Amino acid sequence: MSLRTPAGLMRPEVLAMSSYHVPAASGLLKLDAMENPYRLSPELQRALGERLGAIAINRYPAPSYARLKAMIRDRLGVPASAGLLLGNGSDELITIMSVATARPGATIVAPVPSFVMYDVSTRLAGSRFVPVPLASDFSLDVPAMLAAIAEHQPAIVWIAYPNNPTGNAFDRAGIEQIIEAAPGLVVLDEAYQPFAPDSWMPELARHDNLVVMRTVSKLGLAGVRIGYMAAAPHWIDEFDKVRPPYNISSLDEAAAEFALEHLDVLLEQAARLRTDRGHLLAALRAMPGVVAFDSAANFVLVRVADGPATATAMRTQGVLIKDVGRMHPLLANCLRFTVSSPDENATLLAALSSSLAVSG
Ligand SMILES: Cc1ncc(COP(=O)(O)O)c(C=O)c1O
Repeated sequence: MSLRTPAGLMRPEVLAMSSYHVPAASGLLKLDAMENPYRLSPELQRALGERLGAIAINRYPAPSYARLKAMIRDRLGVPASAGLLLGNGSDELITIMSVATARPGATIVAPVPSFVMYDVSTRLAGSRFVPVPLASDFSLDVPAMLAAIAEHQPAIVWIAYPNNPTGNAFDRAGIEQIIEAAPGLVVLDEAYQPFAPDSWMPELARHDNLVVMRTVSKLGLAGVRIGYMAAAPHWIDEFDKVRPPYNISSLDEAAAEFALEHLDVLLEQAARLRTDRGHLLAALRAMPGVVAFDSAANFVLVRVADGPATATAMRTQGVLIKDVGRMHPLLANCLRFTVSSPDENATLLAALSSSLAVSG
């Protein structure tokens, strides 16, 4: 076939994929992407603007990102003994780890349903993705995970803690067993750590095959594309070879430094969202026809009678949520939405309630 056509030129994995779909949100209340609803105060916005305006954007960034890394270590609790690598969002770190470990015949294991990029990045890197279904209550099926690890000897086991889209944080004892049993790396993806009860970061010293990955996205900086991963330095040194040298822009770097100087503001917002998550869950549980699952993240998963019809009716009322029902059979008729400000949560609840009335 001609190399001048995509069908002849491209890898079959690419041809078989669809692009990551981000629905248009203009004019809608956007509650589908786990964003922090709060912005910086006008004073902080002005100060950030001045900081960014002074950056020499004619120059490449300094590729060590030493100051930002030192601030992340210091303020976000990365142990001094661990190595640290920054990514353009944790999405890029997933790609880096997938590419670096894609030896011929390599496999990657992850529970499903979970974050879709583990599967996508594995396939793009040319490795084989082995999905292990969660139990019906969304807990980790530890015996099935251990069996998959024994059979497939995966290079990486991905575990989102808390998990997206189910919102729960898996039992720690089961994860310990998986870390012990894995022949390769186990990555604990703590994207939702600001809303979770605990972290795996302090365990890095106990396990040399453990990687802890986080992002500043859910903390209120989704537009500033920065993720970070911590692990024993010999792993980080190798992954750093796969990282494009200037993967964080000077503007993102400076914005993240600025935000970390004002971390108290972001942490206070996260605390408010954790409290409002409790109120939202209580209101959802009082609503007939809704099963609301516990959440350790800044989103809530619910099950309704007809997920697609409810999501469509909510959109008609101006509220954009994520219909995750087709992602996996365990998620049939499930919807996921961001925990937002009290006003926006009230709008969501009203739209859900009237949508259930019309969608049956
Ligand atoms: C579990 C998990 N990991 C990673 C990410 C990606 O985060 P980032 O914005 O840092 O690329 C997400 C985004 O939703 C996520 O849910």
